[in-house]
Amino acid sequence: MDASVSMRHGPVELRLIRTRDARALQHELISNRRWLQPWEATLPGVQTGIDMRVSIRRLLQQYRDGSGFPFVMEYDGEIAGQLNIWGVMRGSLCSATIGYWVGERFAGHGITPAAVAMATDLAFRDLGLHRIEICLRPENGPSLRVVQKLGFRYEGVRRRFIHIDGDWRDHLAFSLVQEDVPEGVLARWAHGEVPADWSAVPPTDLPPTDLPPTEMPPTDLPSAGRQG
Ligand SMILES: CC(C)(COP(=O)(O)OP(=O)(O)OC[C@H]1O[C@@H](n2cnc3c(N)ncnc32)[C@H](O)[C@@H]1OP(=O)(O)O)[C@@H](O)C(=O)NCCC(=O)NCCS
Repeated sequence: MDASVSMRHGPVELRLIRTRDARALQHELISNRRWLQPWEATLPGVQTGIDMRVSIRRLLQQYRDGSGFPFVMEYDGEIAGQLNIWGVMRGSLCSATIGYWVGERFAGHGITPAAVAMATDLAFRDLGLHRIEICLRPENGPSLRVVQKLGFRYEGVRRRFIHIDGDWRDHLAFSLVQEDVPEGVLARWAHGEVPADWSAVPPTDLPPTDLPPTEMPPTDLPSAGRQG
């Protein structure tokens, strides 16, 4: 893949990461600690700091050896976050995983769905990949919306799958294979043709919600007979 490759959908641009992005990304990561930490991958038993220079060097090495494709997402020309195609498996699998984040001030502008759609189309059309997977914590409502908007198919729960925010966390797995989207992910989304049910998660796979008292289901016990 050409290192100067970039894709655009409206104000959203997806382009390969560069060494000179380190300062802007480091600033976003540090100023968004509270926003990002619950969803950030960690290493078991290891405390790590943020060093984007080292991180970008490692990502570009993965790019050179073909095991990853690291991007930044820009919004109106400003760096909003990162998207990585990682864990590229060739041979009889031809699959990879997509991970992403944006800074809090960029949330809710549809940046990530547009970028994921473009990255998946690139993977299927130009990178020779057949399957793209996205895994997210069941508690991550905004990330769940991203896969729902694009119609990634729900596959199931991966128990204690990735070390996130200091512990092994359950994840919900979603995927698309090339044959699912002959017209492309971005085009299917832009034309409003995403199947509504592909991303449906059974309630039993989602964390229990705390219903406020007014919405508690009715009980057949007479209230006078109940003790605290
Ligand atoms: C998950 C995340 C990448 C979504 O990116 P995004 O570019 O904001 O995506 P969208 O604009 O499509 O918004 C998705 C949902 O986020 C929620 N959302 C919107 N604005 C928000 C805000 N200011 N704060 C919190 N959530 C917000 C909404 O539920 C929205 O769905 P809707 O459009 O149906 O209302 C982003 O919230 C994020 O980076 N979160 C922290 C890191 C993270 O969770 N990474 C993913 C790990 S799997």
